[in-house]
Amino acid sequence: MMEFARTALRYVPDALLPGTRPKPVRGQHGHVGEPVSRIDGALKVGGTARFAAEVKLDGMLYAALVHSTIAKGRIASIETAAAEQAPGVALVMTHRNAPRMKAPKGMMDGGGVAGSSLPVMQDATVHWNGEAVALVLAETQEQADHAAALVRVAYDPAPALTDFSVARGKAKRPDSVLMEPAAVTIGDAEKALAKAPHRVDRRYTTPRHNHNAIELHAATVAWDGDTLILHDATQMLNGTAGTMAGVFGIQPEQVRVLSPFVGGGFGGKGLWTHQILAAAAARLAGRPVRIMLSREGVYRLVGGRTLTEQRVAIGADAEGRFTALIHEGVAAMTAHNNCPEQFTFPARHLYAAGSFRLEQTIAEMDMLANTFMRAPGESVGTFALECAIDELAETMVVDPIELRRRNEPERDPTSGNAFSSRHLTKAFDDGAARFGWDRRDPVPGRRREGEWRIGMGVATATYPYLRMPGNAARIRIDAHGHATVSTAGHEMGMGTATVQAQHAADRLGLPLDSVTFEYGDSALPAGAMAGGSQQTVATLAAVTAAAEALIKELLRIAGNDSPLAGLRLADVVAVDGGLAQAGDPTRHERYASILARAGRDAVEAEAKAPLPLEMLKYSMHSTGAQFAEVAVSDVTGEVRVRRLLGSFDCGRILNPKAAASQFRGGIIMGLGLALTEETLFDARTGRVMNPSLAEYHVPVHMDVPEIGVIWTDLPDPHAPMGARGIGEIGITGVGAAIANAVYNATGTRVRDLPITLDKLL
Ligand code: MOS
Repeated sequence: MMEFARTALRYVPDALLPGTRPKPVRGQHGHVGEPVSRIDGALKVGGTARFAAEVKLDGMLYAALVHSTIAKGRIASIETAAAEQAPGVALVMTHRNAPRMKAPKGMMDGGGVAGSSLPVMQDATVHWNGEAVALVLAETQEQADHAAALVRVAYDPAPALTDFSVARGKAKRPDSVLMEPAAVTIGDAEKALAKAPHRVDRRYTTPRHNHNAIELHAATVAWDGDTLILHDATQMLNGTAGTMAGVFGIQPEQVRVLSPFVGGGFGGKGLWTHQILAAAAARLAGRPVRIMLSREGVYRLVGGRTLTEQRVAIGADAEGRFTALIHEGVAAMTAHNNCPEQFTFPARHLYAAGSFRLEQTIAEMDMLANTFMRAPGESVGTFALECAIDELAETMVVDPIELRRRNEPERDPTSGNAFSSRHLTKAFDDGAARFGWDRRDPVPGRRREGEWRIGMGVATATYPYLRMPGNAARIRIDAHGHATVSTAGHEMGMGTATVQAQHAADRLGLPLDSVTFEYGDSALPAGAMAGGSQQTVATLAAVTAAAEALIKELLRIAGNDSPLAGLRLADVVAVDGGLAQAGDPTRHERYASILARAGRDAVEAEAKAPLPLEMLKYSMHSTGAQFAEVAVSDVTGEVRVRRLLGSFDCGRILNPKAAASQFRGGIIMGLGLALTEETLFDARTGRVMNPSLAEYHVPVHMDVPEIGVIWTDLPDPHAPMGARGIGEIGITGVGAAIANAVYNATGTRVRDLPITLDKLL
């Protein structure tokens, strides 16, 4: 999702570059930085927050899907009569009767957001094992599920490339990876590596992962003439509206996407085939439709993280300074999506080195399109890179934190740009002190407690600062001085509504309960996508612009009888429910008073966030240090994580309560990446073999130890409100920190995730 920011920024003329520093905060009232509890918390705990599959529409039908059982080929015959005659069935839709639709525009190939750019149910072709080949609509979900089981499909299979060991042999270098070059070469790294007095050269592998948000993917759809209303579980309202409009040949304004609550997104709550099929079926049946994927359905239709094979080689001189840094490898992808899992990106920005060779290739396979999943690229890339650094430190008999310190760069090592703000060394120091890193025994296998061997590990966390341009916000102040801030943003559980209300309250000089934050509706001013850890900051920028436009308008209508007469935007602060002259609180007038004198019920203003031009000048990244302590059983090989600590440098933290929760959630996902999560993909058939939470293991409560979270809280001078993103960095580095701790405990290096007990016996 981050490519939007990068694409748009490519075309910014140089002349626009100066003057990108954020303006000082006006009328700071101190809500920002407070641990305010979630505004939507009570709605969720009380069960009154209405999710996409809980919207009830008159005459609504329920959908069930039939999935293909071959990876490639054609539907030879499809027998629907039994399903059509089953109780309650209103429609069976297949490629034979589905409305004609254009193929959805995919991510990175034409401004769409679909997970795949394949046409949906338009002919007899099968593209992956699990693709939807029929959809049944019935009066109840049970009737739809039953009838779907009665559909009989026969196939003419075609040879499919479903074996990664074969696909890897045909891997090729893409033109670019998320708008960046697929290869970065500085100097001759292989030569420098060969000459280095200290070196490691290792291969690491990471498996496929599937999205398992608690809320299943769902949509409730209705047509009103040629207007489509889509109640969706999405992290991309505006993109979904535009892409759906393209599919059905209508204008983007004719699609309204509503998504006030999302039960977890992580990159997976995008536009997949189920929303398109539901809308098509609703049109065909002439009635509203509810579709909710089964858990298995999510595995069949919603992409996840792809697998990678990575090589990291590091050469160092006698003092441990890197002379060569090589990170290369291959990821699996399809021909109809563009999500290359940018695992070489961390190595572009983290360490100084005399030479670099960073390069990744893609092996195309016949499978469901892979997609973004919390810190795509960085999560698995840091596993390989940060394990290799630990291995080099071991070889050199140097503390792994000290080795990183010796290679801390002055500027971005591959772009040469200055960092906007970087305090990674402080994050390591603070984390080491809090975690008690000095208690680590550098010799593996020496710490024991009965059958348990104890070890400690550390790794760097990193995630880029991104921003999508083009988002807007509207602010309306009513006669009582109550502000409504509106933007098509998303609340997936990260605290969007709360943090934005905190910011708007400060920005307007209002108490928190005088602000309503309105979001989750594509009819509102265009919002930022909730992806790439950029929504919060992108929205702050839009709200700031709208607040300035609003204050200008208020000063205009205040007129000559106001204590504010003659003042301009630059002269005033927002304070005490109104505006005042900066430095002279006696020249103050409340919003309600301004509106009353002007005879207005409300004043409103809308503005777009300025282009995030600072991203062109600076290397902007959140960073951090992840610490893990594990116990490994001598008897069973079982790994228990006993303690985790994340120490982050993400700029200013806007709401410590929401932020700590975001960091912890990411770290727990990293624990799953390290120890439990693996999508089992049958190389013979291309079929996912463990499509359920019974067989795909995410960490459960008993797997999760105490997780400490600390941060530098040092504002980034080049980001709005000094804040960088925090949503994704939590997962990064955790895999390596745990793998390094397992090595410290046992003396066994596991370079193939997940670290299951069979690999330790
Ligand atoms: Mo994120 S993987 O951009 O939701």
